[in-house]
Amino acid sequence: MRSSVLDSLTLPLVQAPMAGGPVTPVLAAAVSNAGGLGSLAAGYLTATATEDLLRSYRTLSDAPVAVNVFVPEHHRAVAADLQAYRSALRSWADSQSISGEVPAVPAHNDDEFDQKIAMLCRSRPELVTFTFGLPDSVTVARLQDVGVTVGVTVTSEEEAVAASTNGADVLIAQGIEAGGHRGQFDQSAAPLDISTSDLVQRLAARTRLPIIAAGGIDGPEKAQALLDSGAIAVQIGTLFLTTEEAGTKPTHRAALLHAAADGASTVLTRVFTGRPARALANRFTAALDDRSVIGYPQVHFLTAGIRAAAAAADDAELLNLWAGTGVRGCRQESVSALLARFSSLSVRSAPPGDAARSVRAHVAEEVSR
Ligand SMILES: Cc1cc2nc3c(=O)[nH]c(=O)nc-3n(C[C@H](O)[C@H](O)[C@H](O)COP(=O)(O)O)c2cc1C
Repeated sequence: MRSSVLDSLTLPLVQAPMAGGPVTPVLAAAVSNAGGLGSLAAGYLTATATEDLLRSYRTLSDAPVAVNVFVPEHHRAVAADLQAYRSALRSWADSQSISGEVPAVPAHNDDEFDQKIAMLCRSRPELVTFTFGLPDSVTVARLQDVGVTVGVTVTSEEEAVAASTNGADVLIAQGIEAGGHRGQFDQSAAPLDISTSDLVQRLAARTRLPIIAAGGIDGPEKAQALLDSGAIAVQIGTLFLTTEEAGTKPTHRAALLHAAADGASTVLTRVFTGRPARALANRFTAALDDRSVIGYPQVHFLTAGIRAAAAAADDAELLNLWAGTGVRGCRQESVSALLARFSSLSVRSAPPGDAARSVRAHVAEEVSR
């Protein structure tokens, strides 16, 4: 059991990995240097680019860091569905004079999974977390053998049991409120409608693994309630998107701040990437939701040209504005101001449920094995 990385935190708060640009080494280091845990995001990057990020992080902080990896999809998209969605996207874009290329349907790719695992075994960040699937037990053991703690993102009890069976040290319990992609192992399934709070309680009763609660946190009250339900830490994404240290696209940042002020709603949609994800509703989600298909990662590449053109034109209506339901808590602020809002968080000494016991005692017991 290697969750000592979480046990050593002075603030039980993990900055969520957020692939696609928002997470910078400066952001992750600001969180870890303040006693929380920063996470780098390897998704969409090469193994070499991920290693460069980790090196940059190490120049900014000696504190622990997490690196997050996408597990390659088991469910392969149906070719005819992808072609149909490409046609729908093209005719919609043409009819609306939307710029940005819609390319031919690309081949499936595994996001350099094997290269990333090899690199992480060499570089040894303190924690490696996975999303979009279940890493096999050999991969989990390879990382653990070189001293890396392994976390798996789960969205249901069944996924938690499978992660535990494959040797995970930590579970990231992602509730339905979370911003960005659902981490569910099977992209073709309808997202399970379980709140973060319910999921944490169910997992605390079912497993002895430490649980990090992710999804919908809008401020310290919600975060503390999740810790009181049995989580050892909370993982926050959306609120970090509007911090000064984040690399969030200006259009996305402005939309989040606008939503925080005016109360815009979020939707779960496959329109941008083919995998369910929570985003602010906009013209893109409204126009294409009923034609969307199961198709990650290919749909991500089909929409990339339109999204890049939208970002360049500062058009929030055509961009994937990932956001959790906690978006109301977004502020334009520094990481230190955000963390100050959460400075009073504390982990309860004994989680409720059948597994009731001190998380710290549990960790100590496992470490001494
Ligand atoms: C912009 C954005 C990008 C995300 N990218 C990733 C990612 O690369 N890997 C991952 O495990 N989770 C990713 N997530 C999900 C977060 O890990 C986390 O579950 C979520 O942010 C928690 O909900 P919240 O946004 O309501 O705080 C992303 C979330 C957002 C908002």
